[in-house]
Amino acid sequence: MVQWQMDTGTVMHGVFGDPIKHSKSPIMHNRAFRVLGLNAAYAAFHILPGQLKDAVAGIRAMQFRGVNVTIPHKLEVMDYLDEIDEGAKAIGAVNTIVNEDGRLIGHNTDGIGYVRSLKEEAGFGVAGKKVLILGAGGAARGVSYALAKEGAAAVYIANRTVSKALELAEAVRPFTKSDGMGYESIQDVRDEVDLIVHNTSVGMHPNVDDVLIDTSWFHEGLTVSETVYNPLVTRLLREAEAKGAKTHGGLGMFIYQGAYAFEYWTGREAPVAAMREAVLEAF
Ligand code: ATR
Repeated sequence: MVQWQMDTGTVMHGVFGDPIKHSKSPIMHNRAFRVLGLNAAYAAFHILPGQLKDAVAGIRAMQFRGVNVTIPHKLEVMDYLDEIDEGAKAIGAVNTIVNEDGRLIGHNTDGIGYVRSLKEEAGFGVAGKKVLILGAGGAARGVSYALAKEGAAAVYIANRTVSKALELAEAVRPFTKSDGMGYESIQDVRDEVDLIVHNTSVGMHPNVDDVLIDTSWFHEGLTVSETVYNPLVTRLLREAEAKGAKTHGGLGMFIYQGAYAFEYWTGREAPVAAMREAVLEAF
């Protein structure tokens, strides 16, 4: 194991969020730096809403190479960057900042991270497939956009607040067939979908007995995918498995959004297995 020690040449990275105490990103990225023998470090910063602008100025002043941005800053941070890539613009949120010699560039690795984890971990290729997204918040936005860009034949969006589902469907429609609906209308599309992606906080610790929708119609031809990763196996996944559906846990999205960020910052292939191991150890 390479000895990890900071010195004047250490390249700094971090994550800005509120709350931030439980973030697993420092553990994941520091392990990645260490296994590749890079003189770099990553720390978590508790940035309150009114302090985001100053914190971003600090990235330049302190010459951080990269920063992740998490709840509640993913939208506001866009106002303080020099450039925003096409995907992050379309999604309307930034989760990764790269500092190119003082120019701050915003990316969004949540959606592409999700699609890569779906491919690598569940062996699910998106092209030509029909997808039902549950939820229409920030996470659902990134996932919907990435699935559409990867060639999904249809992206249906169901949400408690139907107006938000309709709005997201409209944003996705330039890229593929898309429709928004309430949960009661899932029955109209359930026979055609290949993949269900759960993108709300329902079932997340401590409410582990909650499940968002009726799963009695799930079947062997379906893949059911989570973005919740605490707990690692949600009630939705357990019920899906009992119906013979293939399942895909939420941890993968977290690991691979980090892997893409790591690759933007370092130009090196992310050591995904080591990153996953570090996060699992921290649970
Ligand atoms: P994130 O950025 O993590 O996606 P968000 O933008 O606040 O967070 O979105 C949360 C999502 O979870 C929304 O789809 C929300 O539904 P509404 O748009 O109707 O609020 C959904 N959600 C949260 N709690 C829920 C609950 N108890 N029942 C159903 N949906 C819920």
